[in-house]
Amino acid sequence: MKKETRKAVIAGNWKMNKTPAEATELITAILQANEGADNSGCTVVACVPYVDIDAAVKAAKGTFLKIGAENCHWEKSGAYTGEISADMLVACGVEYVIIGHSERRQYFGETDLTVNRRVKAALEAGLKVILCVGELLEQREQGITSEIISMQVKIDLAGVTAEQMENVIIAYEPVWAIGTGKNATADEADEVCGGIRATLAQLYGPALAEATTIQYGGSMNAKNCAELLGKVNVDGGLIGGAALKAPDFTTIISAAR
Ligand code: 13P
Repeated sequence: MKKETRKAVIAGNWKMNKTPAEATELITAILQANEGADNSGCTVVACVPYVDIDAAVKAAKGTFLKIGAENCHWEKSGAYTGEISADMLVACGVEYVIIGHSERRQYFGETDLTVNRRVKAALEAGLKVILCVGELLEQREQGITSEIISMQVKIDLAGVTAEQMENVIIAYEPVWAIGTGKNATADEADEVCGGIRATLAQLYGPALAEATTIQYGGSMNAKNCAELLGKVNVDGGLIGGAALKAPDFTTIISAAR
C-alpha cells in the first residue's frame, strides 16, 4: 500500500483551552472556512476538553468534522475520582481519543503501561485511538530516538490485535517540538515515522504497517504543514496551537487533501 491509499488524518488537540460556548464558536468557524470543500481525501478530528464534548458534538453533527477526547481511563467505572471512562465518551458521541500524549506522561505520571491499558480499553469501547509517542530532547541528543520510539510503540500496543489496529492512528510527537515553535524538519519527521512503520511491520507484518496512518505533531502550522505532510511516511498531523485558529487549521486540512 502506498501513501496515496492511506487515509490522511488531521486532528486538533485543543488541550486545556476553550469553554463550551467558545468550542461552538470555533467549530462553527472551522465549518464555515471549509464550506464546499471536498473532504473525501482527509479525515478531520477536533479533540476537545471533556466539558466541551456536548457542545462540540452538537456543533459538528452531520458535518465532516469528527469529535475526539484527550484521554480516557482503562476501567469501565469505579472509584477513580476525576477520571472518565471510554464508555462514557462513546455515550456522549465521541469517536476518537488521544492516548499517551507527552503532557499526560510528563505532568500526570502516565507510563507506557498505563498508556497500554488505556489504549486497550478505548479500543474495546469502540473508540478510534490516536496513540502519541515521542522522544525527549536529551534522548535525541544521545542518539537513542529510534530505540525509545520503538519501545514505546511495542509496550503501548501490547495485546492490541491486528484487527483492532484498524482503529489505531499513531502520532509521532517529539517532546522538544511541542508548543515550542521548533518543529522537527520534514526529513526528521519522515525518518521517525518510517521507523514506527518498521516497528509495526515487525509486530503485525508489512501490509498492516503500510496501511496504518502515522501523524506528525509538534509545532505544525500553516507555514510548515505542506512540507511535513508531503513526506512519504507522514500521513497527517496532530495539531495543538494552530488548531485553535480556524484559518490556520483550515490551511493544514487543505494541505492534507
Ligand atoms: P503544538 O502544535 O502546539 O506544538 O502542539 C502539538 C501537540 O502537542 C498536539 O498534540
